[in-house]
Amino acid sequence: MKLIKQLLIMMLLCLPFLNCTSTKKEEPKTTLKDALSGKFLIGTAMNSSQIWGKDTLGVKVITQQFDAVVAENCMKSMHLQPKDGEFDFKDADQFVDFGERNNMFITGHCLIWHSQVPAWFFTDTVGKDVSKEILTERMKNHITTVVSRYKGRVKGWDVVNEALNDDGTYRNSKFYTIIGKDFIPLAFKFAHDADPDAELYYNDYNEWYAGKRDSIVKMVIQLKDQGLRIDAVGMQGHIGMDYPNLEDYKAAMDSFAAAGVKVMVTELELSALPTPRPNVGANISDIEIYRKEMNPYTDGLPDSVATAWTNRMASFFKLFIDNSDKIERVTLWGVSDADSWKNDFPMPGRTDYPLLFDRNHQPKTIVSTIIQEAKKNK
Ligand code: GLA
Repeated sequence: MKLIKQLLIMMLLCLPFLNCTSTKKEEPKTTLKDALSGKFLIGTAMNSSQIWGKDTLGVKVITQQFDAVVAENCMKSMHLQPKDGEFDFKDADQFVDFGERNNMFITGHCLIWHSQVPAWFFTDTVGKDVSKEILTERMKNHITTVVSRYKGRVKGWDVVNEALNDDGTYRNSKFYTIIGKDFIPLAFKFAHDADPDAELYYNDYNEWYAGKRDSIVKMVIQLKDQGLRIDAVGMQGHIGMDYPNLEDYKAAMDSFAAAGVKVMVTELELSALPTPRPNVGANISDIEIYRKEMNPYTDGLPDSVATAWTNRMASFFKLFIDNSDKIERVTLWGVSDADSWKNDFPMPGRTDYPLLFDRNHQPKTIVSTIIQEAKKNK
C-alpha cells in the first residue's frame, strides 16, 4: 500500500513535466536564410558529393540554411569542355537541377579563368599558341554553349575570374597575352548575347589592395561605357586572422558600389591557421618543425582561438549586414570545415576551421551570432 501511495505521488509530481514534453512543439529554429532575408542572399559552394546527394548531412545543411548555390568546381572549363568541342554537362546539370528543386539562386562559376582550364584551349595540334582569332572563337563557343544551356535557370555568371594582379596590372594569362585586354569585354558580350536576362559579374581576390581595387573600378566603368552589361563585382572572401583589415575591405565595397555595380561576397571562408611563409629552407628537420607549427590545431581549436575566430567572422558579417544596401549575396566557400580547400592550401594536409559548420555539420557559435546581428537590424 505504502509503495502504491509513493508511486502515485511520484506520478503526480512528474505530471507537469510529462505534459510539458508531450505537448510542447519543437521551437522552430531561425535559419541563416530566414534571418538574412531582405538583406542579402546567403549562399554556399557545393562539391560533387553534395550535388549528387551522397553527403546527406551536407545537403541537409544546404537546404535548411542557404538560399543560393554555386558549384565549387564542376562548371569550370576543364570539367565542362575537357576536349575541344566535347562538353560534359553531367555534374553541372545535376547541380542546376538541385538549385531549381530547392528554389535557390544559382550562380554559374566561372566562364573565363586562367586556371582549371584545359591546355587545348590555347594551343594548336603541335602545342603552339593559337591566334587571337582562334582563341576568341573558342571563348565564344565555350561561353555561348554553356550560358545557352542554362538560359533562364542560372541567374548570374562569374564571366571573368581573376584577370588582374594585386597591383592592378593585367595578369599574364594566355587570354591576355594572346587576345590582349579585349578578352574581358568580349567575354561579357558573348555571355550577354547568350542570355540577355542573366546577371554578369567580374570576380577576383585581394580586391582590398588599392591598385587592384582601382583597376576593377576602371574596368567596370569601361565596360559600362561600351554599353556592356555588368551587374556586380564578386569579392572572393578568402580571408585570414591577420588579413585583410576591415577598413580596406569596406573601402573596396564602397568603390565598387560607387562605380554603379552591386557587390557579391563570394568564396568566403576565414582560415584559423597561421599564414605559411613562402621560404622555409631545405633542412628536413626544420621543415618538420615548421609543418607542425603551421598545423597547430589537429585535435580541435583551443577556446581562445575559437573565440578570436568567431569575433573576426562576426565583424565581417556585421560589415555585410550594415552595408546590405550594396550587397546582393554572401557565399561561403563550402559547408563544413571538412569540405574546405583550405585544409590543403596553401600547405597540404592541415586541419583548418574556416567555415560556419563544424566537421560534424553542427552550426558553430557564429551561426547564432550572425542570426542575432541580422535580427538587430530588421
Ligand atoms: C579561386 C576560384 C575558386 C576556387 C578557389 C580555390 O578562388 O575562383 O573557384 O578554385 O580559387 O578553391
